[in-house]
Amino acid sequence: MAQRVLLGIGNDIESNKEVIIEGDRSRAMFICGKRGSGKSYTMGVLIEELFEKAQGEAIIVLADPMGIFHTMALPNDDQTHELYQWGLTEKGFPVRLLVPGDPGQRYGEEIVEPLKERGIDIRPLRINPSDLSPDAWCSLFNLSVNDLMGIALYRAVSDLQDKGDFFSVNDLERSIKRDPRTQDKTREALFNRLSIASKWGIFEDRSSRAKEEMFTSSAINVLDLSVIDPGSHGLRNLVVDIIARNLFSARTKARRKEEFGLSPELPRIWLAIDEAHQFVPQSGSSLCKEVLIRWVKEGRQPGLGLIAATQQPSAIDTELLSQCDLILSHKITAIDDIQSLNRLSATYMSGELKTLV
Ligand SMILES: Nc1ncnc2c1ncn2[C@@H]1O[C@H](COP(=O)(O)OP(=O)(O)O)[C@@H](O)[C@H]1O
Ligand SMILES: [Mg+2]
Repeated sequence: MAQRVLLGIGNDIESNKEVIIEGDRSRAMFICGKRGSGKSYTMGVLIEELFEKAQGEAIIVLADPMGIFHTMALPNDDQTHELYQWGLTEKGFPVRLLVPGDPGQRYGEEIVEPLKERGIDIRPLRINPSDLSPDAWCSLFNLSVNDLMGIALYRAVSDLQDKGDFFSVNDLERSIKRDPRTQDKTREALFNRLSIASKWGIFEDRSSRAKEEMFTSSAINVLDLSVIDPGSHGLRNLVVDIIARNLFSARTKARRKEEFGLSPELPRIWLAIDEAHQFVPQSGSSLCKEVLIRWVKEGRQPGLGLIAATQQPSAIDTELLSQCDLILSHKITAIDDIQSLNRLSATYMSGELKTLV
């Protein structure tokens, strides 16, 4: 994106002037507001603007825990009137819908067909088991790396990773079976866990990878996380973790090429996360917290942008929040949330937010 990329997000109610955001620099944007205040809608508008202005020179990945954003592929008929008032168009956008697991099983074939008819490019997304660190494997099953099962699993994953090849969940089972240091009881308990993991339907059993080629710059990439039960083993976070890690390293390599005047294989990347408190919680850990904080802290140079939306700013990790350089706040009323925005806005605004809400 050599020229300036100006994103129109609507008109100012009082002056009726268009509100413009500069989108040509990598940045972290934060959208907040109480439930129903229009955060997801604002995120959608920003993404559509980014997509249109980037003209194929950016990859946009939207982590969608509510399963709502594929509607961007539809012309906005209901709100045509309002959209005209707001100066937006009502057209649909190309969407690539990435579904963890098998889309037919997740949605049912009767849903997949109409989605395809709407022009949505729907694809399965699977995670490569060898992309997970030994620690991530243990935390998936809530195992401490200090107890017997954790030790055995950690060892099996590290051994396979040392060989450097792809491995499947079955290979992992075989590696545990071969390890003479592991007791039978521990083995059996681990086999049970692994057989549950196979049934999650999100792991590759062949060596194709959920890599950067999964994503396209000619559509908005919507990752439908709503198909994964939010409670089960932090799987949604795992999917975001692996994707963010892979994109981060692929883009860092591409950036190096750019510096040497070579054409990069991968353009800059925008990652948008709705309901972001689920992924980067203020209290407690999450599988993808570390990579997302690194994304905002170190992402400017390689060209990694973030848009995060939440109804609870106080529930988001403060390290991530403090990196956000643009804040779009819809109505908020909870005192904790107002306070956390005030702490954040100290550098931007002289007055306190409570005078405005
Ligand atoms: N700027 C807007 N123009 C028209 N409709 C909007 C706008 N913002 C939000 N809406 C509508 O209001 C409802 C709630 O918005 P949503 O973005 O889902 O809220 P949130 O994500 O904050 O819970 C949705 O039906 C959405 O289409
Ligand atoms: Mg929402």
